[in-house]
Amino acid sequence: MDKPLPEYFNRVGDLTDRLWTDKGRMTRAFPHVAAQALKEFPPYEHIAAHDVVQWVLGARELPRQHIEHKFGEPGIQVFVRPDFFIEVLFWLEGSPDIHQHGFSGVFYVLSGSSVHTEWAFKLNTQFDGNLRAGILRVLRTEYLGQGSYRSIGSGRDFIHSLSHLERPSVTIVVRTTGEPDAIPQWSYQKPGLAWNPFHRDECLSRQIDLLDMLFKVDRSQYVDAAICAIARPEMSPYGVFKILNGCFDKNDEDAFSRLLEATQQRERDLAEIFQDVFSNQARDRHLQIQRNVLREPGHRLALAILVDAPGRQAALELVHSKFPDAEPASVLGRLIGEMATVKSRGFPTLLSSFSDVDLLMIPEILASYRPDVIADKLGKKGIEASTERVRDCYDRVRCCSILRHLLDDSHSELRLPHSSTAPTSSHRKITIENRT
Ligand SMILES: [Fe+2]
Repeated sequence: MDKPLPEYFNRVGDLTDRLWTDKGRMTRAFPHVAAQALKEFPPYEHIAAHDVVQWVLGARELPRQHIEHKFGEPGIQVFVRPDFFIEVLFWLEGSPDIHQHGFSGVFYVLSGSSVHTEWAFKLNTQFDGNLRAGILRVLRTEYLGQGSYRSIGSGRDFIHSLSHLERPSVTIVVRTTGEPDAIPQWSYQKPGLAWNPFHRDECLSRQIDLLDMLFKVDRSQYVDAAICAIARPEMSPYGVFKILNGCFDKNDEDAFSRLLEATQQRERDLAEIFQDVFSNQARDRHLQIQRNVLREPGHRLALAILVDAPGRQAALELVHSKFPDAEPASVLGRLIGEMATVKSRGFPTLLSSFSDVDLLMIPEILASYRPDVIADKLGKKGIEASTERVRDCYDRVRCCSILRHLLDDSHSELRLPHSSTAPTSSHRKITIENRT
């Protein structure tokens, strides 16, 4: 390893090591010292994503790789100490679940950009050691461009999700190796379920493998066996969730409703929570599948807004961050209209119930809902759109599970997204220091 690139990461790593030692190797100090090291040697001034590709492909030896650590598409460990490491993560389609961390550190956008959403979870019910119910809500959503960075706190004080826009988007993560008191690393499902994706139950895993086999061989046997498994008193609530989740992934609505019914007979409260969770998943699944066929960052931004933006204001702020010179409502409406025409195999196009004229009205409705003005404006462009038709389109947007939040102005507590430029602003500094 005699190239400038590992030397760069060695400089950042050695400085992080020294600064952390000065802080007594205290876990809570790590995000701050990692951010300091990145500020001392700003990555975007020293390296580019293709340098990492060239280095790794030409290397005879690399720092120790965490092969078992499947994160990133791929993730490359570029500096490793026993208690912390630096990695470069490439992202194509990956959009990690809403999750928390069993480690601390900083992530930095080296190239591409992302929509970053922070969440809060209020615990209501602990079903077992690996499944909890509560209320999940968006704290803030923001656009992160090249040079942006955010600290990562361990545990439930920092719950987040990221939707990457460019292919690839590349992030650098400087992080502790692990913090036992911050385990489990809960993942979250809307509107309020926390589950432990790292829980290993050998018996349950094999039971789910067998159910999968039965589904491929004989669907009715699968349904009967899964209902029996759910009804067994020994089956944990987490096990019931995993069985239902496996069924949901099979995209068999009838089988799923029968398994949900079995859950209801076992425990009504649990079934009601699962029903909400999987209804939300069904909505997001169609959107997530679109991610695999969309390549244009603007379309991916619109998709991220449909999935995670809590309301109209947040949506428009995200668009403004990415396209600062354009009128955000019109741009968002146009992007949604374009995205809605892209086909995913096996799924109807998004917004298939909206006509071409409807899709032309949506940008106007998002910009300012004045039916007569919109009808007049479209009429001047030769598009036949009466006031009544605009009203009808508005009513259908308001009832559409994918779009209706874009008309919701109630999330006024959301702040403007932070600047997407390099990490030099005082606001960014405060953000990082507050979290350490
Ligand atoms: Fe994360």
